[in-house]
Amino acid sequence: MATLAVYPGSFDPLTNGHVDIISRGARLFDRIVVAILINADKAPLFTTAERLEIARGVFGDLPNVEIDTFDGLLVDYVERRGAQVIVRGLRAVSDFEFEFQMALMNQRLAPRVDTVFMMPAERYTYISSRLIKEVFALGGRVSGLVPEMVESRLREKLAAQPVR
Ligand code: PNS
Repeated sequence: MATLAVYPGSFDPLTNGHVDIISRGARLFDRIVVAILINADKAPLFTTAERLEIARGVFGDLPNVEIDTFDGLLVDYVERRGAQVIVRGLRAVSDFEFEFQMALMNQRLAPRVDTVFMMPAERYTYISSRLIKEVFALGGRVSGLVPEMVESRLREKLAAQPVR
């Protein structure tokens, strides 16, 4: 049976750490769906449509990578898609506690779905979407840390409004 994995997240914005995990996932699983959370109650910097467009732009050429959005419970989406695996990236020990809680809660809700943790390349282990936004807003360089498309979109956002 083909293994379908779902890699969920906010991706606000997509970083090279995410790109690294997605590329690794695409090698490991038959198909990987990047599932962008529609954050109804948060105020993301990039709209869902923008995050979708960016991810599709970056992964347009990988045939077994699909980009989608979801809302509600992650496990409901995973089961609806008939996926067997949830992929999450682990950068440092500090990520572990919350990820462990989520994995066990998801396991309780959907016992047949397994969470697989993947480590990005070491050079990406300190990157987070939150830090990227902060550093960029304060005039720091983020090239090499995010896809070029993200950098240019950040520039457009900054020109239109101060980045949060
Ligand atoms: O990129 P993030 O913000 O770390 O991703 C978090 C995400 C989207 C994986 C998590 O918030 C999530 O799964 N949200 C959907 C709602 C849900 O299922 N919550 C219970 C998780 S145990």
